[in-house]
Amino acid sequence: MPDVNPEFVKYAELHIPGRDPIKLPILKGTMGPEVIDIRALGKEGYFTFDPGFVSTASCSSRITFIDGAKGILLYRGYPIDQLATKANYLKTCYLLFKGELPTPAQYEEFEYKVKHHTLIHEQINSLFQAFRRDSHPMALMCGIAGALSAFYHDNLDIYDPEHRENTMIRLIAKMPTLAAMAYKYSIGQPFMYPRNDLDFAANFLHMMFATPAEDYKVNPVIAKAMDRIFILHADHEQNASTSSVRLAGSSGANPYACIAAGIASLWGPAHGGANEACLRMLEQIGTCDRIPEFVARAKDKNDPFRLSGFGHRVYKTYDPRAVVMRETCHEVLNELHIKDHPILDVATELEKIALSDEYFIERHLYPNVDFYSGIILNAIGIPTSMFTVIFAIARTIGWISHWNEMQEMPESRIGRPRQIYVGKTLRDIKASPARRRSAKSSAATKI
Ligand code: ACO
Repeated sequence: MPDVNPEFVKYAELHIPGRDPIKLPILKGTMGPEVIDIRALGKEGYFTFDPGFVSTASCSSRITFIDGAKGILLYRGYPIDQLATKANYLKTCYLLFKGELPTPAQYEEFEYKVKHHTLIHEQINSLFQAFRRDSHPMALMCGIAGALSAFYHDNLDIYDPEHRENTMIRLIAKMPTLAAMAYKYSIGQPFMYPRNDLDFAANFLHMMFATPAEDYKVNPVIAKAMDRIFILHADHEQNASTSSVRLAGSSGANPYACIAAGIASLWGPAHGGANEACLRMLEQIGTCDRIPEFVARAKDKNDPFRLSGFGHRVYKTYDPRAVVMRETCHEVLNELHIKDHPILDVATELEKIALSDEYFIERHLYPNVDFYSGIILNAIGIPTSMFTVIFAIARTIGWISHWNEMQEMPESRIGRPRQIYVGKTLRDIKASPARRRSAKSSAATKI
């Protein structure tokens, strides 16, 4: 039985002509809508059909709650805007994985452990050399995160909570190092080692932008914005990449390989690739006078073009992360004294036009978190191809927290969806004319 309210016992009845009604329990979590438990349906000889899992809960979870209609996002019960303003990324990681915010002593110990796992095994450096310099950094991240599987054999018992926690610390510590190495490799600069005197976000900026030739001073406003981007992207319940991690993990696979599956899924433009796609779209639009042309294309059903950074499967109002991100975007642009930025002008005007257009209003298409994160990252000097990589750094804690939770849930089973088969019905292979001739001649020989 999933971890649901046992007091709530109600049934739905499924009426199928010629059969007795099938009783299906209705489950209730601590928040959110009632859920019809269809697990018994398979034994009754039926499956349900739900491409894209629009109406299907694949698991129960205690980690993140979303109310898409009201624009609510909670990590372990705490609203995302409070975490973004009152916590930091590492506290958020602790909360997501362990269920509670750390005490000062717990935080000190956790931060120490993360800082002391940021180095990458030197042998991994040579893996980078196998990639072309112009490879997309997400290709490097998929390959190298998966390759970490080969380095930690001593800590891979997925049934041991201590091993799972060590894996979490290694992953959140090493992902920024790998990401910065992927960037440095692409521009031909030497890898920069992590610095333990810097906090998580500042250390990442140091590894991205410092060189051994001169000092690099991290701007605290930019470091704070980076930390906020990490918090806002840390988890989002059963999205495509998290579901990919859970599905890969459901077979008992190595956690580093599961994270590589999450990175692969995140890469797509309908998911984590949207911030990159959004910035490329703003660049393609170029000037405000061209916006109507692109809005018309987005509305044209014969044109596959969509406005990147708009719409969300779950949010049918403003994405609560986008609200915080919008504020952070203005803080960063002020700090960097960016006023007349053509991309920002296009973004501001596009937001205005789309929010007042009937097509977008009717379909509840609001700017999502990626709309603003792309502008901030661009202003900080992060190349567009690294946007999804930064999302992957942030989401690693969400992925590994779900993977960890899954190991403890008694309801967990290997993920194995069914299908409606619409292919050919049973048929036989017909003998070819040549085979028929040779069959005839061998029959003649026998006579
Ligand atoms: N531009 C134009 N029209 C859109 C857009 C868009 N960005 N998004 C949805 N629509 C339209 C669809 O054409 C559809 O119209 P119809 O009812 O006339 O057929 C309607 O809105 C509903 O869209 P669906 O595709 O059914 O919505 P779904 O929930 O499957 O897709 C998604 C959600 C993938 C996010 C979609 O809105 C999209 O492609 N957006 C652009 C990409 C993007 O920004 N992705 C980032 C998501 S946030 C994240 O991953 C952190």
